[in-house]
Amino acid sequence: MEKTKIKFTLNNEEVELMAAPSELLVDVLRDHFLLTGTKIGCRQGDCGACSVILNGNAVNSCLVPIMKVQGQVVQTVEGIGEKNTCHPIQEAFMDNGAVQCGFCTPGMIISAKALLDKNSSPKKEEIKEAISGNICRCTGYLMIVEAVNRAAEMIRASEKREGRA
Ligand code: FES
Ligand code: FES
Repeated sequence: MEKTKIKFTLNNEEVELMAAPSELLVDVLRDHFLLTGTKIGCRQGDCGACSVILNGNAVNSCLVPIMKVQGQVVQTVEGIGEKNTCHPIQEAFMDNGAVQCGFCTPGMIISAKALLDKNSSPKKEEIKEAISGNICRCTGYLMIVEAVNRAAEMIRASEKREGRA
């Protein structure tokens, strides 16, 4: 199949590749860019393991044809936090026992990040809604909701310190 040049912003860097229209974002991320933090579960939009942030919204990358990403902005779990410093969401997940086998964790962190970027004071119901597309087979979700809540507190405290709140 004929390939087309696709350019987009990936984790704050301009990237480009030649891709066939039928290729899916999840496969491009994992196979071309080796960003394997984005997981593959169902490939049907049901589990959220493949979640990434596309133009500010969490999406299932297994449902996104690469052509739709032309000129857009994508963030994967590898783009959250710094090399030697965890993002508050990552820190809160570790501190609150929100990670067991870890398979759902990148997708959960993506959904939490998309939520907290828009709303750093979410109600518990809003947190539950934000992660409702992410399936966890281990934790029972309580610890995850607590972790996102704790991350929100940490983000608000740091905004206050920086005089942004
Ligand atoms: S692998 Fe994409 S939603 Fe399950
Ligand atoms: S921690 Fe195992 S699936 Fe969520």
